[in-house]
Amino acid sequence: MNQKLMIEEINRLKKEKDAIILAHNYQIPEVQEVADVVGDSLALSKAAAEVDNNLIVFCGVHFMAESAKILSPNKKVLLPAIDAGCPMADMVTADDLRKYKAANPDVKIICYVNSSAEVKAECDICCTSSNALKIVQNIDAEKILFVPDQNLGSYIKNKVKDKDIELWAGFCITHHRVKSEEVQKVKEAHPDVEILAHPECNEEVINHADFIGSTSQIIDYASKSDKDKFIIGTEMGVLHKLEKDNPDKKFYLLSTGLICANMKKTKLQDVYQALKHEKHEIHVDENIRIKALKSLDRMLELS
Ligand code: 13P
Ligand code: SF4
Repeated sequence: MNQKLMIEEINRLKKEKDAIILAHNYQIPEVQEVADVVGDSLALSKAAAEVDNNLIVFCGVHFMAESAKILSPNKKVLLPAIDAGCPMADMVTADDLRKYKAANPDVKIICYVNSSAEVKAECDICCTSSNALKIVQNIDAEKILFVPDQNLGSYIKNKVKDKDIELWAGFCITHHRVKSEEVQKVKEAHPDVEILAHPECNEEVINHADFIGSTSQIIDYASKSDKDKFIIGTEMGVLHKLEKDNPDKKFYLLSTGLICANMKKTKLQDVYQALKHEKHEIHVDENIRIKALKSLDRMLELS
């Protein structure tokens, strides 16, 4: 089937099955183009919780589709590429947290949404990159363990001085590998151009950034700015919307390594197959779901 026909079929199946397609900002352009909502983790969680459709096709990685299922248990949630995971989410387990809690009963645990349902179930509250600061500032706790992203955690810790924040040693393999030498090089090539970076980048990169935010916050910032050139310090998928919405502006990727292989696993063909055969359905154990939902609900209340 050619691409034009496939897009027509996707749109027909969407109507026939009362489905909605949600896609993360890192998805390939063709997938973003067939999606009904494209956004960052927070926007997609909110959309999953609010939409009326009975079928959600989640183009992203596993923890995102899982969060949609936790928030909307009566809807059928599909992940088109079932092997699309997030290596950072696998860097902390529920067992790790149970052991930690037994040894540290007075510490509240905040988990980045890039985590499994089992991990969310062991935490007090979730956060995303766009609301992490607000969540940490507002949580009623002196001592906090932040899991699993040490980079987002350390960015927040540097801003919230009145709380004792311990960091888990996880990281995003895509953002963490950007080196300060790459930043120097790109700054020399494009002097006076602002660097917009994701807080999953390491501290050396964050220290050079002019703006730090989630994927959608980066897109909004560049779109509203009266400047016409930007260095982008997050996964290359955001370039699609940035360039589409801002044809007169120029965007330079901070590093050629800013590609998440897992986010690139979902092809248009997978979206079509997902809709046609209603696969791959995401399931979450009900006991875990109820506990994980508390962490997500607390986050949505505070966001
Ligand atoms: P946001 O879209 O929330 O900024 O998250 C980035 C990310 O790495 C998702 O996996
Ligand atoms: Fe996970 Fe990083 Fe890929 Fe996001 S970009 S899905 S945090 S590996």
